[in-house]
Amino acid sequence: MHFSTAFLLTLLPPTILGHGLILLPPSRPVGPALVANCGPKVAQDIRLDNTSHIESRPELAAKDPAYKAAKCNLWLCTGLQFADNPANNTQMWTAGQVVPIKVWIRIPHEGSANVSIVDTKSNEILGDMLKVWEKGYAPGTKESDTPLDQKEFSVTVPAGLEEKCATAGDCVLQWWWYGVAVKQTYESCVDFKIVKKEVKRDTLQRAFKA
Ligand SMILES: *[C@@H]1O[C@H](CO)[C@@H](O)[C@H](O)[C@H]1NC(C)=O
Ligand SMILES: *[C@@H]1O[C@H](CO)[C@@H](O)[C@H](O)[C@H]1NC(C)=O
Ligand SMILES: *[C@@H]1O[C@H](CO)[C@@H](O)[C@H](O)[C@H]1NC(C)=O
Repeated sequence: MHFSTAFLLTLLPPTILGHGLILLPPSRPVGPALVANCGPKVAQDIRLDNTSHIESRPELAAKDPAYKAAKCNLWLCTGLQFADNPANNTQMWTAGQVVPIKVWIRIPHEGSANVSIVDTKSNEILGDMLKVWEKGYAPGTKESDTPLDQKEFSVTVPAGLEEKCATAGDCVLQWWWYGVAVKQTYESCVDFKIVKKEVKRDTLQRAFKA
């Protein structure tokens, strides 16, 4: 029997279709804390394709006795853990700073997307969304179909989070994309802390005096 490639492709589940990840600043990677909290099955699913959607993972987690729902927090950063992010990946931002972001839309799926700062303890979005695409995000079928301003954009660090986000890991910047037709969610997170402007100025003055 002989089948064309196009026919064989139609047999593949849609789970291989849409994919994305934040490339810059560096986003949370896979590591031992993910395995410990989300279990080896979820960890392996992310390792196989770290740009893939979350929806397949609750099922894997449910079958895994090592899965710890509260610690894994699967729907925030798709379960990727702060402890797995090397310390030098923690961004130090000040209020008002404009932060360039670069995302990798490996395979597009048209839908909505946004970027926000999330309180990692309560899972609440802090303040306003930093960026919102209500529709028309990641159209087309191949990587090059995505408009440049959906892949490379910037967000402004809001004021008022100096206390709440003073410690790395307490807050996270999350990029969240939903492909409408495939009903798939992609999340990628950057760890940061907010440094008070005065502190920076003091340090600068000290540096100048020295
Ligand atoms: C995602 O996976 C790719 C390919 O395995 C790897 O090169 C990259 O470092 C990974 N990125 C993160 C943030 O895990
Ligand atoms: C960050 O630290 C890791 C070791 O934890 C090191 O391998 C890597 O080169 C460092 N990256 C930068 C940008 O300094
Ligand atoms: C943010 O994006 C996600 C995924 O597209 C969506 O489910 C959520 O409703 C969006 N929230 C806002 C306030 O835009």
